[in-house]
Amino acid sequence: MFKYLRVQIVHPCQAKCAWCSTHFKNPRFSTLHKSGEAEEYHDLYREVAAKYKPEEIFVSGGEPLLYPGIDQFLRDLAEHTEKIHIFTSYQFNEKTMERFAAMDLPREKIVLNHTPIYFEPENWHKLTHGFPFETYLHNVRLAVKVPILKRFKFIINHSGFVEEIARFQKLVDPDETCEISLKMMNDQGDGIGVETMQNTAVRVRERLGDLDAVLEKAGWSNRPRPQTSADLMRPVIESGDVTKCIYRDEPLELRLSFYRGGEEDGKKILKYRYCPYFPADFGHKFHLGKDSIEKLGKNFVKGPFRDHCQGCRMLHYCDAADRPKKIEKKKVSL
Ligand SMILES: C[S@@+](CC[C@H](N)C(=O)[O-])C[C@H]1O[C@@H](n2cnc3c(N)ncnc32)[C@H](O)[C@@H]1O
Ligand code: SF4
Ligand code: SF4
Repeated sequence: MFKYLRVQIVHPCQAKCAWCSTHFKNPRFSTLHKSGEAEEYHDLYREVAAKYKPEEIFVSGGEPLLYPGIDQFLRDLAEHTEKIHIFTSYQFNEKTMERFAAMDLPREKIVLNHTPIYFEPENWHKLTHGFPFETYLHNVRLAVKVPILKRFKFIINHSGFVEEIARFQKLVDPDETCEISLKMMNDQGDGIGVETMQNTAVRVRERLGDLDAVLEKAGWSNRPRPQTSADLMRPVIESGDVTKCIYRDEPLELRLSFYRGGEEDGKKILKYRYCPYFPADFGHKFHLGKDSIEKLGKNFVKGPFRDHCQGCRMLHYCDAADRPKKIEKKKVSL
């Protein structure tokens, strides 16, 4: 039923990226991993994949490459899908990258996805709270050598976006196993990034008009650019009209992310949504061991989630007059 499924590995990352709020879940992820309870979430993902057989599965985190069971998890998912995207930050020691490179994996189905941020040491150190750029770069270069498709997703909001891609090409020397994709900055929980999104809205709208020309200008000549949610959301961003959103019309995506678990009451709950851009505080709740998996499909058809679309995060990119009036609490400078 769903074309795409996105799941969140319950395993901590070792980073504190300034643009992201997921690392606040790290302590809880650690506890659940140590107690073995994280596996209940991962098993549920396996069951959902078997039930809905999505064309593509997106494995996020936490940090999937640090999760010791990642190879078996990917082999299991591969039985139910054509393509598996892994999101990785490359922010870990070199051994982790070498370990991944040596794993027995369904390589022809895997794409390693990564979002570069500026790709130069000074901004990188600032935005990652000092993760060594050299180690990061070394891991990216090692990844290029692994016979798996790599996708590097550049954020089109950045003023220095063209230079960013040029630097990336110079430092990494990507080969035919690498492709470039484009994405927009996304509001994270608690209003992180709203102000930056609004401040970059004119630039984003300009670039969305012809994303291929933007890439050509940046000198990228390898594989063709894959379609992304930036393409899909263009009609909404240009009009401010959420009824033009394809995610509302078709069961395009099911996203499962950790909500809570391992506390004293023993409740284990995932949040689920049907697109990448619902308001950060919104999500239906799925109780592990209590709710049936059918609920995830039925609720898309039933449709109450559509009532929340006026809080769509992509509306921050519309003309100022159409934007939500909520005042943001935090900002990230890009
Ligand atoms: C939350 S991370 C988890 C997986 C892994 N730790 C990583 O960094 O790729 C998943 C993806 O979300 C992206 N991300 C985090 N905060 C974002 C934001 N505010 N806007 C756009 N993408 C964001 C990351 O860059 C990454 O590509
Ligand atoms: S982007 Fe990834 S690595 Fe960075 S803090 Fe978020 S989850 Fe961790
Ligand atoms: S919040 Fe609504 S309008 Fe925005 S992407 Fe999601 S389904 Fe589409």
